[in-house]
Amino acid sequence: MTAPLATRVSRADGAAVADAVHRLKAGGLVAFPTETVYGLGADATNGPAIARLYEAKGRPAFNPLIAHVVDVAAAQALGRFDAAAARLAKTFWPGPLTLVVPKAAGCPVADLATAGLDTIAVRAPSHPVAQKILAAFGGPIVAPSANRSGHLSPTTAAHVLADLRGRIDLIVNDGATPVGVESTVVACLGEPVLLRPGGVPREAIERALGRKLGDRAAATNAEPPTAPGMLASHYAPRTPLRLEARRVEPGEALLAFGPTPAEGVARAVTVLNLSPRGDLVEAAANLFSHLRSLDGAGATAIAVMPIPSEGLGEAINDRLARAAAPR
Ligand code: TXA
Ligand code: MG
Repeated sequence: MTAPLATRVSRADGAAVADAVHRLKAGGLVAFPTETVYGLGADATNGPAIARLYEAKGRPAFNPLIAHVVDVAAAQALGRFDAAAARLAKTFWPGPLTLVVPKAAGCPVADLATAGLDTIAVRAPSHPVAQKILAAFGGPIVAPSANRSGHLSPTTAAHVLADLRGRIDLIVNDGATPVGVESTVVACLGEPVLLRPGGVPREAIERALGRKLGDRAAATNAEPPTAPGMLASHYAPRTPLRLEARRVEPGEALLAFGPTPAEGVARAVTVLNLSPRGDLVEAAANLFSHLRSLDGAGATAIAVMPIPSEGLGEAINDRLARAAAPR
């Protein structure tokens, strides 16, 4: 690791956007909000900047990154969109969907960012701050979630600072991110396949395509991993998680969902409810932030109430299963 950087945190105004662009052009690392989670941005065409990004995150170099673009036209300079990919981009961009497509001939994104694969993950985020930075930068920006590898994804600037202070140049702060879970990743390399559930529910994608998404099991065995976001303990609090909990054991904190209290809720060390009214959209937005808070509560375990698996519930349960995975 090189000498610590003076990580600046700026409120997301015009000056901060200009500063972000200036630093990205110079090969710097800039965290900024997207509608899903905060991303850690680097110039996608700058190999050394991307190497520093991997170092700052402590991320295994075989994990490929998402290239963020301002719109569909910019995406088409990076990858080849078949009919399904074009349809999904048209329906959901800008928004929380990432498409994995074959790399276009002459794609300017550095090989390090795609981990040497002949495919590329692209997404056009809808967050106004991300849009402004992308438009002013005028090229693709790679941005993994702005956390140390293996930690929870950040939904506030404070989360980013806690993980990456001294390791990155700038954090553009625009409050909490509205969606709260990462983008849905769909591979369009033939039959469309769901690689990672996320901010766009599977059902919405299947409606847009007029058919079911393929199973990701086939993709999981690929080498190198096609979506290493699937690595077992990718989203890891220090406190063990106990899923599908209907009662609270002594010493546990409770991550609640919905209006019905868990049995023994009075003995919980701390209780946070993802959505007292049982709304999965609200629950996704609160997920990482509540997990971080409960992780700091000194409990023996975090009991997590059952969460329905429809809509955004699929992404929420995916992240919870990962957070609960043995390590
Ligand atoms: O919501 C999001 O997607 C956030 C914000 C910042 O945009 N970004 C994010 O990036 O979650 P990251 O790096 O944490 O996750 C990217 C996922 C990983 O699971 C990675 O393996 C997968 O996308 N991915 C990237 N390139 C791929 C490729 N060529 N083929 C298959 N999967 C790929
Ligand atoms: Mg991540």
